[in-house]
Amino acid sequence: MRTPLIAANWKMHKTVAEARSFVEAFLPAVRGLEGADIALCPPFTALAAVGPLLAGSAVALGAQDLYHEDRGAFTGEIAPGMLTELGVRYVIVGHSERRTLFGETDELVRAKVAAAFRHGLTPILCVGEQLAEREAGRTEAVVTRQVEAALTGLEAAQVERLVIAYEPVWAIGTGRAATAADAGAVCRLIRDRIRAAFGDRAARGLRIQYGGSVKADNIADFARDPDIDGALVGGASLDPQGFAALVRAAA
Ligand code: G3H
Repeated sequence: MRTPLIAANWKMHKTVAEARSFVEAFLPAVRGLEGADIALCPPFTALAAVGPLLAGSAVALGAQDLYHEDRGAFTGEIAPGMLTELGVRYVIVGHSERRTLFGETDELVRAKVAAAFRHGLTPILCVGEQLAEREAGRTEAVVTRQVEAALTGLEAAQVERLVIAYEPVWAIGTGRAATAADAGAVCRLIRDRIRAAFGDRAARGLRIQYGGSVKADNIADFARDPDIDGALVGGASLDPQGFAALVRAAA
């Protein structure tokens, strides 16, 4: 059976000092917890401080993005090897904020997923439809296009250990989460596509999270769905006690 992954995406929140105090409060609150994997994805600037604090705990370190080249004249970008050096294990790729605010294309997302795998990082590939696309009945088409584009060229053994986060854009930061039934249906659709393209083993191993206004008081609904393997959490991951309560409710 797949172990759910609850990942905190802090987005552009927390200084190094704030990140440290979060970890100091959070780790004791989840010590000994079983039934869910946990990852924290701080901003790049806090990775070097948070990594050593997580060492020896069951909480993994994640990053919010990466660049697909190994080095070079790419001002402002972060190479995969710079992340692995800091003990980063997961990397969020193709978050809707990257796609919509920073113009990331399906092709760039594909290159980033491939680069993550090349360096032994586990990508958390984000996909999801905009509100207008949902209202036009295009959810399936949009999500399928994003998944197929991002996974082009991968081996089944890589897809088996990939994480996909289904995040309907209209549910992100709005307090308006998808229903567990709707989210589960899209996660099943994604898994079926993966099965068709990469085989049953990859489809059974792949973890598919839901993201979008997940809170401690609604996570259990998503956790009950056999095709939803945890959550990618934004706003509700910023407070250590609140996020610990959310993780406990999911495990
Ligand atoms: O990466 C996290 C998602 O964008 C969800 O954010 O939990 O604040 O809605 P949210």
